[in-house]
Amino acid sequence: MPKAMRIYETGPPEVLKWEEIDLPAPGAGEVRLAQRAAGLNYADINLRRGGFYLYRPPALPTILGNEAAGVVEALGPGVSRVKVGNRVAYVSPSGMYGDEAPGGYAEARNIPADRLVVLPDGVSERQAAALMAKGLTASAILHRLCRIQSGDVVLVHAAAGGMGTILTQWVKYLGAEVIGTVGNAEKAKIARANGCDHTILYRETDFVAAAREIVPEGVAAVFDGVGKDTFMASLDCMRPYATLVSFGNASGPAPPLDIRMLSQKGSLIVTRPGLTNYLADRANYERAAAELFDLVKQGVIRFDPANAYALKDAVQAHRDLESRKTTGSVVLLP
Ligand SMILES: NC(=O)c1ccc[n+]([C@@H]2O[C@H](COP(=O)([O-])OP(=O)(O)OC[C@H]3O[C@@H](n4cnc5c(N)ncnc54)[C@H](OP(=O)(O)O)[C@@H]3O)[C@@H](O)[C@H]2O)c1
Repeated sequence: MPKAMRIYETGPPEVLKWEEIDLPAPGAGEVRLAQRAAGLNYADINLRRGGFYLYRPPALPTILGNEAAGVVEALGPGVSRVKVGNRVAYVSPSGMYGDEAPGGYAEARNIPADRLVVLPDGVSERQAAALMAKGLTASAILHRLCRIQSGDVVLVHAAAGGMGTILTQWVKYLGAEVIGTVGNAEKAKIARANGCDHTILYRETDFVAAAREIVPEGVAAVFDGVGKDTFMASLDCMRPYATLVSFGNASGPAPPLDIRMLSQKGSLIVTRPGLTNYLADRANYERAAAELFDLVKQGVIRFDPANAYALKDAVQAHRDLESRKTTGSVVLLP
């Protein structure tokens, strides 16, 4: 029987339990997937802790894991989209499929075939698992919410993290300059290796003053996955008509915003992406995934293979992500 990291209750990392799971034959429209890698996401921590989501999260017990990749092992009735032996990946945002488990933290699972994209040669399962949820979120940001022009200056918070790494590399590829905030000097080195032109140690330095020193007129965009600790101050380092994309809450949810403030601070735009709409259109999902795989093959989006844990060590991986010890996009390996 395959094993998985399952939670029966919300709470600290120790609620994750490594245990055998029943896996029936795949049903109509489903495939059985041998999973080779799962992405570690802050969203997994939000779901594990409980009390975060505005909508009803999946029922417990559940298996975490919003993004994963593997090999198709068996087909249920009526499946034609993929074949046995195909290498595939998927994104499974918490709560998007009702009570169904996100399901990435398992050695094997059944999943509807129409959620899968086939991996091209040159993109590994590890790379795909590190990319699906975070890369598609970056894709939604850069294609739908905030058009970055060559020469723009963009502020990326937590630039050495999973989202931060992908956004920095992609924004540099678009020809913009990147200022990255980071938690310590080691992360500053990593962020610079990913292409950050400037780094700010925002735990010890006022990042608004530091960003204004680099770009006195203000930045064209802020990409903020930190939330509570950075959201309001970020509005003060933006140029008129700039966009703040608030996509996460690593330090806690961003505070409520009095919309009148946006005119006062320069007719600013504030937006918050989710993946539900972006994935609902299959043609868009395929286009966006194909573009991400292409960026990986071209070497634009790069991952450090050292950023991996055994899936059975997910408790430690959660401890490390929430205590700011991880860097880059981390994968869990079954
Ligand atoms: N909207 C969406 O669809 C979507 C999709 C993917 C991810 N997200 C969100 O994006 C954010 C980043 O996700 P990720 O998985 O890539 O994580 P990550 O950036 O690899 O890790 C979080 C980072 O946030 C920084 N941070 C600042 N204050 C923190 C605090 N109090 N506690 C913990 N970390 C803190 C830390 O970097 P420093 O040490 O450098 O400060 C930490 O490494 C999360 O909020 C996640 O929920 C949203």
